[in-house]
Amino acid sequence: MKVTNIGQKNTILKHFLSEIRDVDKQNDSLRFRRNIERIGEVLSYELSKELHFSSKDVTTPLGTKNINLISDRIVLCSVLRAGLPLHQGILNYFDFVENAFISAYRHHLSEDEFDIKVEYLAAPSLEGKTLILADPMLATGKSLVAVYQILKKLGKIDTIHLVSVIAAQEGIDFIKDHFPEDTHLWVATVDQKLNSHGYIVPGLGDAGDLSYGPKL
Ligand code: URA
Repeated sequence: MKVTNIGQKNTILKHFLSEIRDVDKQNDSLRFRRNIERIGEVLSYELSKELHFSSKDVTTPLGTKNINLISDRIVLCSVLRAGLPLHQGILNYFDFVENAFISAYRHHLSEDEFDIKVEYLAAPSLEGKTLILADPMLATGKSLVAVYQILKKLGKIDTIHLVSVIAAQEGIDFIKDHFPEDTHLWVATVDQKLNSHGYIVPGLGDAGDLSYGPKL
């Protein structure tokens, strides 16, 4: 698996990341969601450099210009519910793609032990498609692997791009063994550890709750 951590350079992205982490700023949920969107936009721009392009003639009022345009047939799939603002950010740039949604939640067996339940799927065929799979927090990696097990039944996927905002090194190491070798993971930043509840440290807390409020 190829991993691109776009947060290594000093860019405006650091401002968006700092605001989603900062306890004094992250509880403004409108701002939190918009920052996740903005990070999705930056990640999309970087990811677009790895797609396939073919040339097309575009007619202007004054003539014709030959322009290279993306030729991949892309399906953007997000993991509910925390994936929604990231989905929107990616869709702001890749506005011509098909969309898929899948749910994944942690079903706790004990305080520190859980498995992943997938109960909802709305997706087009993935046969021959480029899949962009978005999950803002790559923590244990178990949900990404669980959703991939379902998605791969929808057709032979051509290429997979995984998009996350914050990834834990442990999660990256885990998913490497479960996705095809040519999968490309795009992250905005990498944190070093997980706590005993499988949350990323320092991370930002619960991305779903910060976006949409607490759940039972
Ligand atoms: N999901 C989150 O929202 N935060 C984490 O740290 C891990 C998973």
